[in-house]
Amino acid sequence: MNESIIKTLAVAFSVCLVCSLIVSASAVSLRDLQKENKLNDKRLKVLQVAGIYDQNISISDQFNQLESKFIDFDSGMLMAEYNNFNIDEYDQVVVTKDPALSSEVPASEDIAIIKNRENVGKIYILRDDLDNIKKLILPIRGYGLWGTLYGYIAIESDFNTVSGIEFYDHKETPGLGAEVDNPRWKSSWKGKKIYNNDQVALEVIKGKVDTGDIESEYKIDGLSGATITSRGVTNMVSYWFSDSGYANLLKELNYES
Ligand SMILES: Cc1cc2nc3c(=O)[nH]c(=O)nc-3n(C[C@H](O)[C@H](O)[C@H](O)COP(=O)(O)O)c2cc1C
Repeated sequence: MNESIIKTLAVAFSVCLVCSLIVSASAVSLRDLQKENKLNDKRLKVLQVAGIYDQNISISDQFNQLESKFIDFDSGMLMAEYNNFNIDEYDQVVVTKDPALSSEVPASEDIAIIKNRENVGKIYILRDDLDNIKKLILPIRGYGLWGTLYGYIAIESDFNTVSGIEFYDHKETPGLGAEVDNPRWKSSWKGKKIYNNDQVALEVIKGKVDTGDIESEYKIDGLSGATITSRGVTNMVSYWFSDSGYANLLKELNYES
Protein backbone atom coordinates (compact mmCIF):
# COMPACT_ATOMS: atom_id res chain seq x y z
CA MET A 1 0.00 0.00 0.00
CA ASN A 2 1.34 3.36 -1.15
CA GLU A 3 0.15 5.17 1.97
CA SER A 4 2.12 3.05 4.44
CA ILE A 5 3.76 4.92 7.28
CA ILE A 6 7.20 3.63 6.29
CA LYS A 7 6.88 5.06 2.79
CA THR A 8 5.69 8.42 4.15
CA LEU A 9 8.67 8.55 6.51
CA ALA A 10 11.04 7.49 3.74
CA VAL A 11 9.79 10.29 1.47
CA ALA A 12 9.98 12.84 4.30
CA PHE A 13 13.49 11.67 5.15
CA SER A 14 14.63 11.87 1.51
CA VAL A 15 13.22 15.39 1.15
CA CYS A 16 15.03 16.45 4.34
CA LEU A 17 18.26 14.85 3.18
CA VAL A 18 18.16 16.53 -0.23
CA CYS A 19 17.32 19.93 1.34
CA SER A 20 20.10 19.68 3.92
CA LEU A 21 22.57 18.72 1.20
CA ILE A 22 21.53 21.75 -0.85
CA VAL A 23 21.80 24.08 2.18
CA SER A 24 25.21 22.79 3.27
CA ALA A 25 26.56 22.78 -0.29
CA SER A 26 25.52 26.42 -0.75
CA ALA A 27 26.91 27.37 2.66
CA VAL A 28 30.27 25.83 1.77
CA SER A 29 30.38 27.27 -1.75
CA LEU A 30 29.41 30.77 -0.53
CA ARG A 31 31.92 30.79 2.32
CA ASP A 32 34.77 32.15 0.20
CA LEU A 33 32.51 34.77 -1.35
CA GLN A 34 31.33 35.88 2.11
CA LYS A 35 34.94 36.10 3.29
CA GLU A 36 35.84 38.15 0.20
CA ASN A 37 32.84 40.47 0.72
CA LYS A 38 33.77 41.05 4.36
CA LEU A 39 37.35 41.83 3.37
CA ASN A 40 36.17 44.20 0.64
CA ASP A 41 33.90 45.94 3.10
CA LYS A 42 36.86 46.65 5.39
CA ARG A 43 38.97 47.72 2.42
CA LEU A 44 36.22 50.07 1.28
CA LYS A 45 36.29 51.74 4.71
CA VAL A 46 40.08 52.03 4.54
CA LEU A 47 39.81 53.73 1.13
CA GLN A 48 37.02 56.00 2.35
CA VAL A 49 38.86 57.04 5.49
CA ALA A 50 41.96 57.72 3.39
CA GLY A 51 39.76 59.94 1.19
CA ILE A 52 40.72 58.11 -2.03
CA TYR A 53 37.69 55.93 -2.72
CA ASP A 54 36.51 56.03 -6.35
CA GLN A 55 33.38 53.99 -7.05
CA ASN A 56 34.33 53.54 -10.70
CA ILE A 57 37.46 51.54 -9.88
CA SER A 58 37.50 48.10 -8.28
CA ILE A 59 38.25 48.10 -4.57
CA SER A 60 41.21 45.72 -4.89
CA ASP A 61 42.81 47.87 -7.63
CA GLN A 62 42.48 51.01 -5.53
CA PHE A 63 43.77 49.22 -2.48
CA ASN A 64 47.09 48.76 -4.29
CA GLN A 65 47.74 52.49 -3.84
CA LEU A 66 48.20 51.81 -0.14
CA GLU A 67 51.20 50.25 1.53
CA SER A 68 50.43 47.79 4.33
CA LYS A 69 52.88 47.45 7.22
CA PHE A 70 53.07 45.47 10.42
CA ILE A 71 53.60 47.54 13.54
CA ASP A 72 55.22 46.25 16.68
CA PHE A 73 53.35 48.12 19.39
CA ASP A 74 56.06 47.85 22.05
CA SER A 75 58.83 49.42 19.98
CA GLY A 76 56.65 51.44 17.62
CA MET A 77 58.64 50.03 14.69
CA LEU A 78 57.12 49.26 11.32
CA MET A 79 57.98 45.87 9.88
CA ALA A 80 57.61 44.42 6.40
CA GLU A 81 57.57 40.87 7.79
CA TYR A 82 56.08 39.21 10.85
CA ASN A 83 56.52 35.47 11.44
CA ASN A 84 55.18 33.81 8.33
CA PHE A 85 52.09 35.95 8.09
CA ASN A 86 50.93 37.20 4.72
CA ILE A 87 50.19 40.84 5.47
CA ASP A 88 47.07 40.91 3.29
CA GLU A 89 45.58 38.04 5.24
CA TYR A 90 46.82 39.04 8.70
CA ASP A 91 43.87 39.89 10.93
CA GLN A 92 44.95 41.65 14.11
CA VAL A 93 41.59 41.09 15.78
CA VAL A 94 41.70 37.32 15.16
CA VAL A 95 45.21 37.03 16.66
CA THR A 96 43.99 38.54 19.95
CA LYS A 97 42.53 35.07 20.66
CA ASP A 98 46.06 33.61 20.57
CA PRO A 99 48.04 34.22 23.80
CA ALA A 100 51.33 33.79 21.88
CA LEU A 101 50.47 36.67 19.56
CA SER A 102 48.68 39.01 21.95
CA SER A 103 48.84 40.35 25.49
CA GLU A 104 46.18 40.90 28.07
CA VAL A 105 45.63 44.61 28.65
CA PRO A 106 45.95 45.37 32.38
CA ALA A 107 42.55 46.45 33.72
CA SER A 108 43.93 49.84 34.78
CA GLU A 109 44.95 50.57 31.16
CA ASP A 110 41.99 48.98 29.43
CA ILE A 111 39.92 52.13 28.94
CA ALA A 112 38.72 50.92 25.53
CA ILE A 113 37.72 47.54 27.03
CA ILE A 114 39.50 45.46 24.40
CA LYS A 115 40.78 42.86 26.94
CA ASN A 116 43.62 41.65 24.68
CA ARG A 117 45.82 43.66 22.36
CA GLU A 118 47.67 42.08 19.47
CA ASN A 119 51.46 42.31 19.86
CA VAL A 120 51.73 43.31 16.23
CA GLY A 121 49.13 45.34 14.37
CA LYS A 122 48.68 46.34 10.75
CA ILE A 123 48.48 49.87 9.39
CA TYR A 124 48.16 51.41 5.94
CA ILE A 125 50.27 54.20 4.47
CA LEU A 126 49.25 56.54 1.68
CA ARG A 127 52.26 58.20 0.04
CA ASP A 128 52.47 61.30 -2.15
CA ASP A 129 54.21 61.52 -5.55
CA LEU A 130 57.56 62.12 -3.83
CA ASP A 131 57.08 58.96 -1.78
CA ASN A 132 56.62 60.88 1.46
CA ILE A 133 53.93 59.77 3.89
CA LYS A 134 50.72 61.66 3.13
CA LYS A 135 48.39 59.84 5.48
CA LEU A 136 48.41 56.97 7.93
CA ILE A 137 45.34 54.79 8.29
CA LEU A 138 45.23 53.22 11.74
CA PRO A 139 42.79 50.56 12.94
CA ILE A 140 41.03 51.37 16.22
CA ARG A 141 38.47 49.52 18.29
CA GLY A 142 36.75 49.84 21.64
CA TYR A 143 33.56 49.11 23.52
CA GLY A 144 30.49 51.30 23.11
CA LEU A 145 27.19 50.47 24.79
CA TRP A 146 26.26 47.16 23.15
CA GLY A 147 29.55 45.87 21.89
CA THR A 148 32.90 46.68 20.32
CA LEU A 149 33.11 49.28 17.58
CA TYR A 150 35.73 48.52 14.92
CA GLY A 151 37.05 51.19 12.61
CA TYR A 152 39.87 53.24 11.20
CA ILE A 153 41.17 56.72 11.82
CA ALA A 154 43.27 58.49 9.19
CA ILE A 155 45.81 61.10 10.18
CA GLU A 156 47.81 63.63 8.18
CA SER A 157 51.58 63.72 7.74
CA ASP A 158 52.00 65.89 10.85
CA PHE A 159 50.92 62.71 12.70
CA ASN A 160 48.50 64.75 14.78
CA THR A 161 45.71 66.05 12.53
CA VAL A 162 42.73 63.79 11.87
CA SER A 163 41.76 63.42 8.25
CA GLY A 164 38.88 60.97 8.73
CA ILE A 165 37.16 58.28 10.79
CA GLU A 166 35.10 55.28 9.68
CA PHE A 167 33.58 52.31 11.48
CA TYR A 168 33.12 49.01 9.66
CA ASP A 169 31.42 47.08 12.45
CA HIS A 170 29.50 47.93 15.61
CA LYS A 171 26.34 46.98 17.51
CA GLU A 172 25.13 50.45 18.52
CA THR A 173 21.48 51.48 18.20
CA PRO A 174 20.28 53.07 14.94
CA GLY A 175 19.49 56.75 15.53
CA LEU A 176 21.54 56.78 18.78
CA GLY A 177 25.01 55.22 19.01
CA ALA A 178 24.90 54.16 15.34
CA GLU A 179 25.11 57.85 14.45
CA VAL A 180 28.87 57.16 14.46
CA ASP A 181 28.14 56.35 10.80
CA ASN A 182 26.45 59.70 10.14
CA PRO A 183 28.46 61.39 7.34
CA ARG A 184 28.00 64.83 8.92
CA TRP A 185 29.35 63.66 12.27
CA LYS A 186 32.24 61.80 10.64
CA SER A 187 33.18 64.85 8.57
CA SER A 188 33.37 66.93 11.78
CA TRP A 189 36.51 64.97 12.69
CA LYS A 190 38.48 66.37 9.76
CA GLY A 191 41.14 68.83 10.94
CA LYS A 192 40.79 67.99 14.64
CA LYS A 193 44.00 67.45 16.61
CA ILE A 194 44.78 64.37 18.66
CA TYR A 195 47.67 65.43 20.91
CA ASN A 196 48.08 68.60 22.92
CA ASN A 197 51.57 68.73 24.47
CA ASP A 198 52.11 65.02 23.88
CA GLN A 199 48.91 64.08 25.73
CA VAL A 200 45.87 62.69 23.91
CA ALA A 201 43.41 65.56 24.14
CA LEU A 202 40.83 64.73 21.46
CA GLU A 203 37.43 63.83 22.93
CA VAL A 204 33.79 63.49 22.00
CA ILE A 205 32.11 65.90 24.38
CA LYS A 206 28.52 65.98 25.65
CA GLY A 207 26.56 68.46 23.54
CA LYS A 208 27.83 70.76 20.82
CA VAL A 209 31.33 72.15 20.47
CA ASP A 210 31.47 75.90 21.04
CA THR A 211 33.41 77.21 18.05
CA GLY A 212 34.69 80.08 20.19
CA ASP A 213 36.29 77.60 22.60
CA ILE A 214 40.10 77.86 22.21
CA GLU A 215 40.26 74.08 22.67
CA SER A 216 37.61 73.34 20.02
CA GLU A 217 40.20 71.69 17.79
CA TYR A 218 40.36 68.88 20.36
CA LYS A 219 36.59 68.49 20.64
CA ILE A 220 33.92 66.62 18.66
CA ASP A 221 30.14 67.08 19.08
CA GLY A 222 28.56 64.40 21.26
CA LEU A 223 26.08 61.98 19.69
CA SER A 224 22.76 63.06 21.13
CA GLY A 225 21.08 60.49 23.36
CA ALA A 226 24.22 58.35 23.06
CA THR A 227 26.63 59.53 25.70
CA ILE A 228 27.84 55.99 26.34
CA THR A 229 28.83 55.40 22.71
CA SER A 230 30.38 58.88 22.58
CA ARG A 231 32.45 58.07 25.66
CA GLY A 232 33.42 54.74 24.09
CA VAL A 233 34.76 56.57 21.03
CA THR A 234 36.72 59.00 23.24
CA ASN A 235 38.17 56.07 25.16
CA MET A 236 39.22 54.18 22.06
CA VAL A 237 41.00 57.26 20.68
CA SER A 238 42.74 57.74 24.07
CA TYR A 239 43.82 54.11 24.16
CA TRP A 240 45.02 53.70 20.57
CA PHE A 241 46.99 56.97 20.62
CA SER A 242 48.61 56.17 23.98
CA ASP A 243 51.97 54.42 24.42
CA SER A 244 50.08 51.10 24.37
CA GLY A 245 48.85 51.94 20.89
CA TYR A 246 50.34 54.08 18.13
CA ALA A 247 52.14 56.79 20.18
CA ASN A 248 55.56 55.11 19.87
CA LEU A 249 55.19 54.78 16.12
CA LEU A 250 54.08 58.39 15.72
CA LYS A 251 56.99 59.63 17.82
CA GLU A 252 59.41 57.59 15.67
CA LEU A 253 57.95 58.98 12.46
CA ASN A 254 58.07 62.55 13.78
CA TYR A 255 61.77 62.19 14.63
CA GLU A 256 62.39 60.92 11.10
CA SER A 257 60.42 63.59 9.28
C1 LIG B 1 16.76 50.71 23.46
C2 LIG B 1 17.85 51.68 23.84
C3 LIG B 1 18.97 51.76 23.03
C4 LIG B 1 20.01 52.64 23.35
N1 LIG B 1 21.11 52.67 22.57
C5 LIG B 1 22.14 53.49 22.90
C6 LIG B 1 23.34 53.51 22.14
O1 LIG B 1 23.49 52.84 21.11
N2 LIG B 1 24.35 54.30 22.58
C7 LIG B 1 24.24 55.06 23.71
O2 LIG B 1 25.21 55.73 24.07
N3 LIG B 1 23.10 55.10 24.41
C8 LIG B 1 22.05 54.33 24.04
N4 LIG B 1 20.91 54.33 24.78
C9 LIG B 1 20.77 55.33 25.83
C10 LIG B 1 21.59 55.03 27.06
O3 LIG B 1 20.94 54.09 27.83
C11 LIG B 1 21.81 56.32 27.86
O4 LIG B 1 20.57 56.79 28.28
C12 LIG B 1 22.45 57.37 26.98
O5 LIG B 1 23.70 56.96 26.54
C13 LIG B 1 22.60 58.68 27.74
O6 LIG B 1 22.91 59.68 26.77
P1 LIG B 1 22.49 61.19 26.96
O7 LIG B 1 23.13 61.61 28.25
O8 LIG B 1 23.03 61.92 25.77
O9 LIG B 1 20.99 61.20 27.02
C14 LIG B 1 19.89 53.46 24.48
C15 LIG B 1 18.75 53.39 25.27
C16 LIG B 1 17.73 52.52 24.96
C17 LIG B 1 16.54 52.46 25.83
